[in-house]
Amino acid sequence: MESTSDPDGITSTALLNCLRREVGQVAEDGTIRLPRTGVLLRARQGRWLSDPEVFTGSWHSVSWHELAVLITKELGDPPVGFLDEIAGSHSAIAAMLGARPAPPADLYQRSEQALIAGHRYHPAPKGRGGLPAAEWLPYSPEVHARFSLVHLEGEFVDDGDVPLPPGVLPAHPWQLSLLGRSGAVAEHEVWPTSSVRTVYDPAADLFYKFSLDVQITNDVRRLWAHDLRWIPPLARVLRPVFADIASTYPGAAFLIDRGYRTSPECFEGLAVVVRDGVRRHTLPGVTPLLAAGISEGFDGNPLDGLDRDGALRWFRQYVSVVVPPVLHAFFAHGVVMECHLQNVLVGVDAAGMPVQAFYRDHEGMRLLPRHAALLSEVDGDGGSRGVSEAKGWERLQYCLVANHLMEIAGAVLARHPDLDVWAEARAVFAAFGSFPLLTSLLESLTVPAKANLLLRWTRAEGAASRYVDVPNPLYRLT
Ligand SMILES: Nc1ncnc2c1ncn2[C@@H]1O[C@H](COP(=O)(O)OP(=O)(O)OP(=O)(O)O)[C@@H](O)[C@H]1O
Ligand SMILES: [Mg+2]
Repeated sequence: MESTSDPDGITSTALLNCLRREVGQVAEDGTIRLPRTGVLLRARQGRWLSDPEVFTGSWHSVSWHELAVLITKELGDPPVGFLDEIAGSHSAIAAMLGARPAPPADLYQRSEQALIAGHRYHPAPKGRGGLPAAEWLPYSPEVHARFSLVHLEGEFVDDGDVPLPPGVLPAHPWQLSLLGRSGAVAEHEVWPTSSVRTVYDPAADLFYKFSLDVQITNDVRRLWAHDLRWIPPLARVLRPVFADIASTYPGAAFLIDRGYRTSPECFEGLAVVVRDGVRRHTLPGVTPLLAAGISEGFDGNPLDGLDRDGALRWFRQYVSVVVPPVLHAFFAHGVVMECHLQNVLVGVDAAGMPVQAFYRDHEGMRLLPRHAALLSEVDGDGGSRGVSEAKGWERLQYCLVANHLMEIAGAVLARHPDLDVWAEARAVFAAFGSFPLLTSLLESLTVPAKANLLLRWTRAEGAASRYVDVPNPLYRLT
């Protein structure tokens, strides 16, 4: 059975989820046929698929490794290292589970550090570049690590508002060791968020996002120059946008990447982005929680212990808090937020009810054509920051519906299976206003979902995306 404490089950589930979404032909009875090889699979149904079996005259269970091999046969000519990545992700999960201590007291920290299984629709969600666990466990959110940054001294370059003392460049010790460097260890400790290379400094109430030259899901996590140069301009775009949003949706906030500092001789490798902390944006009596943590679960999750009515109200409230600011940013301001599960925090009140939304991550943000002047000022004719309205809407639907709301709904439905949660969500979207794209979303049989497995076969570059259609939970015959 898939659980959050079994590396085999977590790995099989990720592969099954990808197969069903991206490759297989799913029959009424839930069996999945792989179209090229004709292999017939079935799995235990549930929030996610688990316990895979293959039909060879009768049903036989298959291990995660056998399943991965079946995928390589189905898709043919596998990308170099594909099976190793899956095995690496599997052993990383085992190492994390084996070293996981009791959770920290702070609920926000628990929610950020709850992602043992990682991305549920990625074939190798927890790969750590094939590096031995001893190299990265000391910096891992999954084991509630706390550690000190290294402070390099010298002459550095700043771009944007960088609230750091002069002459000091904070560096991530894992990245420093990858670069073969060292420096003086700072005094106070930070802790890693769900994105292993972004850490929270509770004393300063700031996040620091570092380059990390390790492939994690789709990308080598390096802060590329073309993303770094967008940090200050996006901060300038986002401040007035979120001032406007917060005037309509009180408490909605963007954790702005204020600026970055780096070393001129190792510009990308040693860059650190300084991001607004969440505490300064949190309303009194409110606790921020990572959306993905709520989905995966942790001790103290507000979803636990709600009765049916409470759960339905909770979900309605969640959607009402999270969705309208995202739509407003898109329609009123031409800003496409990458509002996937890992980039959104929701603030809950003392009763656990959602009352506030926080968004983050400049890197995945896109701008619609009305920002053409800024786009050409920063990127000239090149760059991938600007998107057409259609492409931006596709991305937004994926992040918001397929990646995010489907999982939060899934977490609610896992506790109360028969609730009509999607009627609640639909009402919130419908009430937002009259926009042709929104109408077409509510009338569409499908929504786009990112094809993280197929992407491995078709691309070499991190920012690429490829989408497949999945059933739209917001659609309802009226
Ligand atoms: N449902 C999900 N969708 C996207 N990413 C997820 C999901 N669940 C877990 N993750 C993990 O979260 C990270 C998302 O990467 P992303 O590029 O958004 O963040 P980042 O840029 O590293 O950091 P930050 O969010 O602090 O800016 C990856 O490590 C990914 O594996
Ligand atoms: Mg992110």
